[in-house]
Amino acid sequence: MSTVKHIGVLTSGGDSPGMNAAIRAVVRAALYYDVKVTGIMRGYEGMINGELFEMDRKSVANIIQRGGTILKTARSEAFKTTEGRKKAYENLKAHGVDALVAIGGDGTFTGANIFISEFDVPVIGLPGTIDNDLVGTDFTIGYDTAINTVVQAVDKIRDTAESHDRLFIVEVMGRDSGLIALRSGIGVGAECILIPELKTDINELFNRLEYGRKDKASKIIIVAEGDEAGGAFEVAKNVKERFPNYDTRVSVLGHIQRGGSPTCMDRVLSSRLGVAAVEALLEGRKGEMAGVVNGHVEFTPFKNAIKHISELNPGLLKLVEILSL
Ligand code: F6P
Repeated sequence: MSTVKHIGVLTSGGDSPGMNAAIRAVVRAALYYDVKVTGIMRGYEGMINGELFEMDRKSVANIIQRGGTILKTARSEAFKTTEGRKKAYENLKAHGVDALVAIGGDGTFTGANIFISEFDVPVIGLPGTIDNDLVGTDFTIGYDTAINTVVQAVDKIRDTAESHDRLFIVEVMGRDSGLIALRSGIGVGAECILIPELKTDINELFNRLEYGRKDKASKIIIVAEGDEAGGAFEVAKNVKERFPNYDTRVSVLGHIQRGGSPTCMDRVLSSRLGVAAVEALLEGRKGEMAGVVNGHVEFTPFKNAIKHISELNPGLLKLVEILSL
């Protein structure tokens, strides 16, 4: 018999498409196993401020297709303090919540780990971030939707680039991670992809532009926002100085990458992981993130999940080199 009788669910950090599908899965799985479920608004901030409410199957009706998060989200400074976490624990106690599912990224899991060590509340995490920068899952919730949003946007940019014979430098999200840039860049047939994980040699970029295909009317360079070359405007400045004859434009895609209806891939991933998180808590697991690796649900301790991926898939990198000719 499990000791977990009442699960709280929250979303924290940057929102990502599929978070609602994950909340739905957690709520419905908890009810399926006869466990009470409470929604916590605004992540850890709402836990501290007592924004907790009981959820039933209807609270999550008609949300699987919606982007954002019905529980709202926040990055809580107060939860970084001992007093903040104590208050959060007291609120959980007052509502009878004895375990948590926390949906978010590295900040969410770092906070959860400290909370577990202080108050021994079991927490299972779900990887909710568009950045795909967590270890222990092939894909994070929202990543597939985000890269498809980028691909749709850049396909449109390619039309106008082609019509005007222009070079476009497109900036995508990824403060510390180039995985959105890498996959979407392959998907749009980018001429070049600049990512924070690899040292950007601006001269190599110049060489590619100079000695690349001359007959190609449009050129697309994808830059991850965290690349050390300094973002799309900085790269554009350098390119314009070196190639004044190029008709160069910049497009920063920004937060449209975080919104929108989740793809089917993200909905299925969220549904699978939401159920797995509830089952894990009932089995007595804690301090781990649920992920899907090679098609199977796996659990990774928070401290390992938040180690940023430093090694990119070399096969994907090679693709860029071969295909951008
Ligand atoms: O969700 C992750 C992320 O998209 C990063 O790639 C980006 O740098 C960051 O969020 C921006 O978040 P915000 O605008 O909420 O500070």
